[in-house]
Amino acid sequence: MEWKPKRGSGVPLYKQIAAYLEECIIKGEFPPGSFLPSERELAKKWQVNRSTVVSAFEELRASGIIERIQGSGTQVSSVHGRFPQQRVPNWGHLVEAGSFLPNYPLIRKIRKETLDHELIDMASGELSPDLFPANAFQTIMAQQPFDYHLGYGHPQGNLELRQTLVHHMKKWRGIDSTASSILITSGAQQALHLIVQCLLKPGDAVAVEDPSYFYSLPLFHSAGVRVFSLPVGGDGIDPDDVLELHRKHRIKLIFVNPNYQNPTGTVLSLARKKRLLELSVRLGIPIVEDDPYSLTAFDGEPPPTLKSLDPMANVLYVSSLTKIVASGLRIGWIIGPQAVMERLADAKQIIDFGHSVFPQWLASKFLGSDSFVQHLQALRHSLGRKKDLITFALHDLLPTEVEFVEPAGGIHIWCRLNREVNEQKLLKQSIKQGVAYVPGLVLGSNKNCIRFTFGRAEQEQIYEGIKRFSEVLKSLLHDKSGESSVNVP
Ligand SMILES: Cc1ncc(COP(=O)(O)O)c(C=O)c1O
Repeated sequence: MEWKPKRGSGVPLYKQIAAYLEECIIKGEFPPGSFLPSERELAKKWQVNRSTVVSAFEELRASGIIERIQGSGTQVSSVHGRFPQQRVPNWGHLVEAGSFLPNYPLIRKIRKETLDHELIDMASGELSPDLFPANAFQTIMAQQPFDYHLGYGHPQGNLELRQTLVHHMKKWRGIDSTASSILITSGAQQALHLIVQCLLKPGDAVAVEDPSYFYSLPLFHSAGVRVFSLPVGGDGIDPDDVLELHRKHRIKLIFVNPNYQNPTGTVLSLARKKRLLELSVRLGIPIVEDDPYSLTAFDGEPPPTLKSLDPMANVLYVSSLTKIVASGLRIGWIIGPQAVMERLADAKQIIDFGHSVFPQWLASKFLGSDSFVQHLQALRHSLGRKKDLITFALHDLLPTEVEFVEPAGGIHIWCRLNREVNEQKLLKQSIKQGVAYVPGLVLGSNKNCIRFTFGRAEQEQIYEGIKRFSEVLKSLLHDKSGESSVNVP
C-alpha cells in the first residue's frame, strides 16, 4: 500500500505531508535539484485539498528544503543544511541522455493513472485478477515439494520447464521443438527485446504490422532500427506488401502477431500465412511470430500458428503465459534454431543471469497438470463472455458513433470512431470519469481508433466502463472545441 496521510491521527494532514516529503528527500527519492510532483497531482493522489499540500510545501520552503522556480515547479534545494556540498549530479540531464528510450508519454500517463487511481482499467493488456488460477497454484505449492537447486541455473532456462513446453507446444499449438531450441524469457517482452538487441544493428530495416503492439514499444527506436509498416486489414496483413518494402529497404526481420492480433483482434488467414512463409523462404527473411493469444480462442479451436506451418525453421516463435495464465509470473519463451537460442541465452545471462527459478517451477507444474486444461476452458469461456458484454455495451451505448469487428479470441477490441474528436482530450476526460483505454495513435498510424481491453476489467465493470466513455465521447462530439485534427501524442 502506498503511503497516505492518516485522518484523525491528531497530527494535521499538512504536517504529515511535510514530514513525509522531507523523508523522501533525505532518502534520495527526490535528490537536490530534482522537481517534486505538482501540488495538484499530490492533492489528487492523497485525496486532500490542494491548500493542504500548499501548506506542506510552505513548511518545507520555510526550512529551505525546497524552492519554487517560477514557471517550472517546486525544486529540491541544492544548498541547505542537509546537503552542504554543491556538487550534486544532474539526474535530470542523465535520465534524458541514455540510449534506451522511455515509454511514450501517453503510455506513461495511462500507466500512472491506472496505478494511482481506482479506474475501470480497459487499457492494461492482461487478465483480470479473478482469472488467475490462484487456487491451482496454492494446491501445487501445498502438495508438491519445491526441489529445484536455487543457483543461477541453465542459461536457456530450467530444463524441466523447457521439456514441459516441448509437450505443451506440440499438444496445443502443433509445434515441434526440443528443449535445446527453447529459451525461457521474462515474458514475451524480453524475448522481443533480446531479438532486437542481438539480431539487428542500427540502421537495419524491419517490417511491422500497423497498427500493432510493436508500435507501442520504443525497443526498435532505442536500437536505432528503422521500422516500416505492413497495414493490417480485416484478414491481417497482405504478405505481398513485404515484397515492396524489401525492394526499397532490404528488410532484415518481419515481426507479426498473426493470431488475435493486438490491437485489431484479426487472424491472418491460412492462405496469407502460407504466402508469408513462402516469401520468407524466397527472400531469406526470418519472421518473428509473436503468439501470446492463440489459446484464448473463445470457441476452443485455436487458429494454426505460422511456426507449425514452417518446415524450413524460418520462424522465431515467441509466446508467454501472460494472456492465458498470469502476467506477473513473467514466463515467456522463444523457439528457434539452437545457434540463435545460444546467442540470445548468452545475452540474457549478461542482462540478468537467467530467469528466476521459482516461477519456472510453478509454470512447469501447472502446465503439466490437469488443472491447466480446466483453467484454459474456464478462461476461454470467461473471455468469450466478456467479449459479448463489451460488444453489447458498444452496440447499446454507441450504435452510430463507433464501428468494430468482433474478435474470436484475445482480450482486446479495436474500435473506429465515426467522427473525428480530439483524441488527447477524449483520453484525458475519460480518465477523469474513471475509465482508461489505449488510444490508437500509440499503436500505429490509425487516427480516431481506440483499443478497449475487455480481459482486464471484471465482468460487472464492462458496461459501466463503456458508459463512462460514451458520455465523454458524446459530450465532445457535441462540443465544438472537442473536434480537432491535431492528434499528435
Ligand atoms: C502481442 C504482444 N506481444 C507481447 C506482449 C508482452 O507480453 P508479456 O511480456 O507479458 O508476455 C504483449 C503484451 O501485451 C502483446 O500484446
